[in-house]
Amino acid sequence: MKTVYCGMSADLIHSGHLNIIHEAMKLGEVTVGVLTDEAIASYKRLPYLTYEQRAEIVENIKGVAKVVPQTTLDYVPNLEKLKPDYVVHGDDWLTGVQQETRQRVIDCISKWGGKVVDIPYTPGISSTALNAEVKEIGTTPEVRQKMLRRLIAAKPIVRIMESHSGLTGLIIEKTKVKVNNKTEEFDGMWASSLTDSTSKGKPDIEAVDLTTRLHGLNDALECTTKPVIYDGDTGGKIEHFVFTVRTLERLGVSAVIIEDKVGLKKNSLFGTDAIQTQDTIEGFCEKIKAGKRAQIANDFMIIARCESLIAGKPMEDALERCFAYVDAGADGIMIHSKDKSGEDIKEFCLKFREKHSSVPIVVVPTTYNHITEEELQSWGVNVVIYANHMLRSAYPAMVNTAKSILTNHRSYEANDMCMSIKDILELIPGTK
Ligand code: SPV
Ligand code: MG
Repeated sequence: MKTVYCGMSADLIHSGHLNIIHEAMKLGEVTVGVLTDEAIASYKRLPYLTYEQRAEIVENIKGVAKVVPQTTLDYVPNLEKLKPDYVVHGDDWLTGVQQETRQRVIDCISKWGGKVVDIPYTPGISSTALNAEVKEIGTTPEVRQKMLRRLIAAKPIVRIMESHSGLTGLIIEKTKVKVNNKTEEFDGMWASSLTDSTSKGKPDIEAVDLTTRLHGLNDALECTTKPVIYDGDTGGKIEHFVFTVRTLERLGVSAVIIEDKVGLKKNSLFGTDAIQTQDTIEGFCEKIKAGKRAQIANDFMIIARCESLIAGKPMEDALERCFAYVDAGADGIMIHSKDKSGEDIKEFCLKFREKHSSVPIVVVPTTYNHITEEELQSWGVNVVIYANHMLRSAYPAMVNTAKSILTNHRSYEANDMCMSIKDILELIPGTK
């Protein structure tokens, strides 16, 4: 019996997929290479369903003999292993970026006389159209929560942007740019204490309470599907932190980051200009442990943020603390610094990685902003947070408009600085 190979993501299964499998069955025994999260994340958004869920669905489709993981976009590694007689694919890969993939398949399987069969693309249905509809429906807390761990596992670096409102959430959800044929977008949102406080005209000193911050966060949750990392400040008293964990978990937030400070916390970017007290290692480890005990599902992450470099303490102190936090059960660490060079963060990451090869590292490059994501990734960083840029960029734009109206006694001159009335009416779904 001849053998046939098809590769697919199989996230939103539709009649087009069934048609491919149906046609493949006519040629021989069908093996489907289901693309792993990692393979898919290398060129587009993470699928809704996990690899395991997608593989199970495909295994149960009539005509599929076997499912294997396809761990790269490139078919070649699986083809070399399986040596199929045919590779069947929709004829949409005859054009565009997929042409190159197709050619590599042809070059590979022709070595043993294998052939590519292009099946006419099923009109009227596409994953892209279904995806748009699914986004309209939204997500569930469980699916959203799992997303951060899946992204960390699947992507070389996870890109998070600060959000402090429904509007900023929508920008993060929807903004996409195409660079070298790859769609670039944000992977999720950072609920920053600095911007949550600033947007309410309050200092970043834990003066805005959890309930108030959750009102704002709920607005963003309601109009988005991407995961959220919550800035939990110091986490407060241990007895209070356990409730925060449960509350965030219930909302579908993926992670809370708490910093190893006690007493009146001030924003870290003051560095040593503000007098702040670091918690003891033992004290902070107790807080991490209590938080981990309090959570109900396994997906929620408690990430420990180390303020040693902010406080001017040596590298050894930062490392000692982070190692202890991991031992206490932290699911990741955030190392912060206000040094402009990024050198201290680099040194920390390389040393931390000597001991822990896979514990997620989170960084906030507000001051060392010349460092690219690619460089951070090469240091072993897993998550980069742009911690305040939605608010900081909106502020000068608003001040300029205000000044223009004051100067000219009318809004005519400010008009070009504003989004059009048409755009504002079309921005929010359901406005019409
Ligand atoms: C925040 O965004 O509130 C943070 C990061 O905690 S920083 O402002 O750099 O302390
Ligand atoms: Mg903060």
